[in-house]
Amino acid sequence: MNIRLTVQKADQVSASWLVVVIFEGQAELPGALQGTSLADVLAREIERKEITGGAGELTPILGLSGCAAGSVLIAGLGSRDKFEGGAAFSAGFSIAKRLSGKPRDSVAVALPECDASKLPEIASALVEGLVSGARGPGLRKTEPNRHEFGGLDLVVATEPSPEMRQVLERAIRRGEIVGRAVNLARDLVNTPPAEKAPTQLAERVRTFASEAGVTATIWDEVKIREERFGGLLGVAAGSDQPPAFVILEHKRGAKDAPVFALVGKGVTFDSGGLSLKPTASMEDMKSDMTGAAVVAAVLEAVARLELRVNLVGYLAITENMTGGRAMKLGDVLTMRNGKTVEVLNTDAEGRLILADALSYAAESQPARMLDLATLTGACIVALGTKIAGLFSNDETFSQDLQAACAKTGERVWRLPLDEDFKESLKSTVADLKNVGGRWGGAVTAAKFLEQFVGSVPWIHLDIAGPSWNDSESGSRDAGGTGCFVRTLVTYLETIATEQPGK
Ligand code: BES
Ligand code: MN
Ligand code: ZN
Repeated sequence: MNIRLTVQKADQVSASWLVVVIFEGQAELPGALQGTSLADVLAREIERKEITGGAGELTPILGLSGCAAGSVLIAGLGSRDKFEGGAAFSAGFSIAKRLSGKPRDSVAVALPECDASKLPEIASALVEGLVSGARGPGLRKTEPNRHEFGGLDLVVATEPSPEMRQVLERAIRRGEIVGRAVNLARDLVNTPPAEKAPTQLAERVRTFASEAGVTATIWDEVKIREERFGGLLGVAAGSDQPPAFVILEHKRGAKDAPVFALVGKGVTFDSGGLSLKPTASMEDMKSDMTGAAVVAAVLEAVARLELRVNLVGYLAITENMTGGRAMKLGDVLTMRNGKTVEVLNTDAEGRLILADALSYAAESQPARMLDLATLTGACIVALGTKIAGLFSNDETFSQDLQAACAKTGERVWRLPLDEDFKESLKSTVADLKNVGGRWGGAVTAAKFLEQFVGSVPWIHLDIAGPSWNDSESGSRDAGGTGCFVRTLVTYLETIATEQPGK
């Protein structure tokens, strides 16, 4: 898709569809509409309250005379006061989802009338949504039901100053890169599990990472054993497919600048192991590698954006199966940091593989470390499907990440890591057991992970809920969501030592 910034009057835009984006209760219409017949139509429909500009509202107007574009779509952004990047992303997603059902040579989007200082951020988030909404989950349909637009024009009324043009063009390019990274994560999640066995997934990550300029190192099973990753090996033992461990490096920050570490759970299929899941709970378990997919996608985006940061990603990848060599209840694994863990539920496998990955990542003493994992059903019980659980041993770090969430509209809620939760992880034979009691399952899982991070400032995001949509709506697709790619890129931009091009 070729995305450009163009200066035009709305009625002169020749595109398959012209989209006009408006705020709720907006008095002024987008500049590109001024003096056009479209402005009269729109003003009348707003007056009649047929069009309100409310979030998610889409009103098609077909066969409008005096308009070069074939058809017009009016898209609402919601209230200007409560506005955050999430609203622009959702609006972009809804627009693209609506228009990409058929092939379209060109779509033009007139940017909303707003404060010039806000426009780059809105344009970027809109483009993220437009790129992401044109991609669906139907990866293996014989007839594609989504079609990327041939071209996408973002239309403003008057030629911006050269500086503003540069800022806007950069925002649009950023939006495209981030939107594509979200799609990359979604595609990996939506891929059938037989097509993303651990070594296959690792190779696929290597391919797109190296295309983006990220250094990728893949460890095979032999190397994983040499490195004493007892948790990853224990989980992989039940599968005919060997595990993989991937290290992704983007070191574009200053030599002495701090290193940021990202760790992802990559269970390409979670059957539960011998503690087998019932069918209904197993149905979506190809999505149990979302953490790894998101980490890989963030590295890809950060490299394409040439962000001046030192970032390392660690992906622990395996299947969780029931083979003859599968770990048994009562087995004891020795993790990378030497701690022993008694396995009392093979379905609590995420924490076993993350224990090794976190210990290993912590050894190089990153300034901050964040893991993403579809870790517990208990977190979905606690927070629902749209909010991730955030656990942290560091106040400032969690505030900084929450600030990034406020910009993107992706939601987290902080949950406790109080000491007494450790009690329930006591084992009679080993240092720890891998399950706590019946209650507070998301917290005991996080408490388990904490035993492997040492003194590194750390955040654990339990994304079991937001990683997946059971059903679609106007502004969301069913399947993988690519959650937190947008937030993590936004966060990493704030710690970059210098913005690209400056
Ligand atoms: N991958 C699951 C968690 C999950 C559940 C993700 C639902 C997405 C949707 C994880 O490996 C798991 O099975 N956790 C167990 C832990 C329990 C055995 C302590 C769970 O949540 O039931
Ligand atoms: Mn499990
Ligand atoms: Zn799992």
